[in-house]
Amino acid sequence: MSGTVLVAYASKSGTTTEVARRIGACLREEGLPVEVRRAAEVTSLEGYRAVVLGSAVRMGQWLPEARRFVGRFSEALRERPVAIFTVHLLARENSDESRAQRESYTAPIRACLTPVSEAFFAGRLELARLSFGERFISRMVKAEEVDARDWEAVCAWAREVAARVKG
Ligand SMILES: Cc1cc2nc3c(=O)[nH]c(=O)nc-3n(C[C@H](O)[C@H](O)[C@H](O)COP(=O)(O)O)c2cc1C
Repeated sequence: MSGTVLVAYASKSGTTTEVARRIGACLREEGLPVEVRRAAEVTSLEGYRAVVLGSAVRMGQWLPEARRFVGRFSEALRERPVAIFTVHLLARENSDESRAQRESYTAPIRACLTPVSEAFFAGRLELARLSFGERFISRMVKAEEVDARDWEAVCAWAREVAARVKG
């Protein structure tokens, strides 16, 4: 099947934007034509052979624009391979409890579609990139500033997705 792979993402403070762009670059290295776009900007899935959809997490949920994307394109998403990724801070932990919690973040998404692959990537927290309200919350919970992104893990997953898309 010909066509471009769409990497659609939702990000509030830029971390997931950079992860989505890296996924796009790694898919291109595998020989696939790729477009990387904000989920809210996408108006149709026509012409895309597969979709890679990702979101940052806020308060235990994907961002609204990524959730809306799933609702807007529910039918088209069932007709092509979809891989999903989540960028958040709990991904740094590996206990049963944290795994169960992060799986709960994407349970509403998996109720609407069956991804060919799913990944959880550790993200970044930088106070200067947050809105006033989010900075306030982060200070209240004494959140540490951190950039925990593992670019090799991101690219390794993109290669796995490329193999599935190429079939
Ligand atoms: C107000 C706030 C709430 C957050 N809630 C969660 C959460 O519930 N679970 C989690 O794992 N990470 C949480 N995070 C961490 C973000 O998901 C992480 O910083 C992510 O990399 C941000 O991505 P973005 O820059 O693309 O928005 C939260 C961050 C902020 C600022």
